[in-house]
Amino acid sequence: MELRDLSDHNEYVPGRGKQEVAQEVGLDPSELIALSSNENPHGPSPAAADAVQGASEAVHHYPKASHADLMDAIAAEWDLTAEQVWLSPGADGGIDLLSRAVLAPDDEILIPQPGFSYYSMSGRYHHAQVNGYEVSKATAFEQRPQTVLDAYDGERIVFVTAPHNPSGTVMSLADIETVADETADSTVVAVDEAYGEYAEMPSARRLISDRDDVAVLRTMSKAYGLAGLRVGYAMVPQEWAEGYAKVNTPFAVNEVGCRAALAALNDDDHVRETVETARWAREYMREHIEAPTFPSEGNFILADVGDATRVAEMARNRGLILRDCTSFGLPGCLRISSGTREQTRQATETINQVLKDLQLGVYAWLRPIPGSSPDLRRSRGPSGRGI
Ligand SMILES: Cc1ncc(COP(=O)(O)O)c(C=O)c1O
Repeated sequence: MELRDLSDHNEYVPGRGKQEVAQEVGLDPSELIALSSNENPHGPSPAAADAVQGASEAVHHYPKASHADLMDAIAAEWDLTAEQVWLSPGADGGIDLLSRAVLAPDDEILIPQPGFSYYSMSGRYHHAQVNGYEVSKATAFEQRPQTVLDAYDGERIVFVTAPHNPSGTVMSLADIETVADETADSTVVAVDEAYGEYAEMPSARRLISDRDDVAVLRTMSKAYGLAGLRVGYAMVPQEWAEGYAKVNTPFAVNEVGCRAALAALNDDDHVRETVETARWAREYMREHIEAPTFPSEGNFILADVGDATRVAEMARNRGLILRDCTSFGLPGCLRISSGTREQTRQATETINQVLKDLQLGVYAWLRPIPGSSPDLRRSRGPSGRGI
């Protein structure tokens, strides 16, 4: 027996974890700063951590009540009906739910390139063809509706990521509406707001009241600090109300995740502190990192460092884990997550030191790489803050 043809499927490549890197570079995990996965540097809300402990006594039950309670709580938060909240294991699970509910074999989806890799993975699992529209470095990753529409060719799902991973740019609600208006009735615009809490722009949730062709993806992984529990959801039009029961894996989110998410939703202080720190950190990094950076509304920034693989490797050897964006098709760029204020200052210092050492050729002296140029430093933009 053979598996189906998976030759055009890609694997998800996560940011590297502390344990793995610590072993590699011979440091204790506690000495490392991991800013590679856009996680919450404050950890989970203490109330959510308590709920995890409390839930442990009840894990022999299916999560019937907690699943329903969480859908109700999210619905209340967003002023939706519970049927409009499609609870899922992470926003990844929400992407799968949309694929299951919308795609027939050989349908097509349209995704941002570069962009979050799971859109294409999920599309391919569901036998769809994957097409891309460009979010271009040359235009500072600006998200233009016309670029999406120029690439559009009747796809069933058009993904818009706001804030965009890995650049942090957004598309305004008016522009998202233009995309929804100008695409066919049979097309849904899926607005991925995994980083929505950190953005200044309002959620595309408000578009759902008046239209049946926009869905919004959210997660508890980022601002709520529950990445390890896998809790997310899609917000969908009322017209789709019956779809969830037909495509959902029974009890998609487990008891512990549901209880923790319920507690986290009630801890406004934790989210406020998280968002404040991230907004401070992205400005601090843009101000102080000695390389061009891009405006970001997420809990991370993108820096154009010249040879991201090498900079990431040198930073790793000094205890700082960053995301080399070569796998996104951006070999010059590093994505740097916001840390706590202390971590962010320390990371900025390390990155600047690495860039300086590269400029001086210290790295080449330590470990020569054939054909490499030691001068990777780029000049800063006219504002002094990069692109
Ligand atoms: C843009 C975007 N969407 C969705 C996700 C998935 O988040 P999760 O499945 O942890 O909720 C991520 C994770 O990094 C992301 O960057």
